Amino acid sequence: MIILGIESSCDETAVAIVKDGKEILSSVVASQIDVHTEFGGVVPEVASRIHVENISICIEKALKEANMTMEQIDVTKGPGLIGCLHVGVQAAKTLAFAFHKPLIPVHHLAGHIYANSLVVDLKYPLLALVVSGGNSELVYMKDEHSFEILGETQDDAIGEAYDKVARVLDLGYPGGPKIDQLAKQGEPIYSLPQPKTEGKYDFSFSGLKSGVLQFVKRKEKAHETFKMEDLAASFQETALNEVFSRVERVLKDYPDIQHFVVGGGVSANSRLREKVEELRQKYPKIEFTVPPMYCCTDNACMIAVAGEIANKVGRRGSADLSGDSSWAIQ
Ligand code: KG4
Repeated sequence: MIILGIESSCDETAVAIVKDGKEILSSVVASQIDVHTEFGGVVPEVASRIHVENISICIEKALKEANMTMEQIDVTKGPGLIGCLHVGVQAAKTLAFAFHKPLIPVHHLAGHIYANSLVVDLKYPLLALVVSGGNSELVYMKDEHSFEILGETQDDAIGEAYDKVARVLDLGYPGGPKIDQLAKQGEPIYSLPQPKTEGKYDFSFSGLKSGVLQFVKRKEKAHETFKMEDLAASFQETALNEVFSRVERVLKDYPDIQHFVVGGGVSANSRLREKVEELRQKYPKIEFTVPPMYCCTDNACMIAVAGEIANKVGRRGSADLSGDSSWAIQ
């Protein structure tokens, strides 16, 4: 099966051609980071306009590079920025209608989870940690394409917290990779607010983010200096400890889990990868997978792969398919 995947939920216009769910024949990602850097974050209206400019160019490039025509079209239906989603969905509907191909709506988080199947066969029951700029979720999958959200953020997503803390430290957008680099040169010596949540597996990052801002203000007011590297390391360690304490709770409560996978932009983080290694040592019976760098942040390969599975379980889109900014995973 040759699948054309389209992803446009945030600030990447991405189109990929994937064969049989494993072989990437082409993957085009037009990132808008340079434009949004000027504003310190993604501006939704600007993002959707740039998607309109880029989408046909990306489709043409992906088809040319793969030197193939598609048999199925998979597109991100949601969640994401509504104007951005509409661009991808309309392009996919047009292609499906013009070339009489099946159209498959794909959930963005399912895409992040199934990115792992590009490098390994997934085993079930599976636990997925999705950590990106818009989401922080723990998803239990009893079987292929069955999704149960066990925990989620009650406020900011973890990537959003990285980006906001980076803004406080004047590091620019996107903040995740910059804090990751800075933290490597520091020590987590500063005490920051420990996130508090009600749900056993839920996350919260907003208090921690405000804690960093208050720390900086306190230091400025008292004319005291601090090491940015140490603050970055302290923020990162507190945030990731929160995440991994929840992961461990689930692993203990669900002893049937065979495979743990991570997905989303924050899975590119070097400290997060170390923590997954630590878990691997601790739980030798479970398989652990972190996606390769090329499919951590938004891309369309993951949408093509997730769409292939969605197709198998009978998911179909029709002419009335529309983007859904808060589509629940199903
Ligand atoms: O998955 P993604 O491309 O977009 C969404 O679906 O949201 O994730 C983007 C997020 C941004 O918040 C960015 O700061 C974060 O992923 N990110 C990182 C790293 N690389 C990207 N966060 C921490 N460490 C990194 N190395």
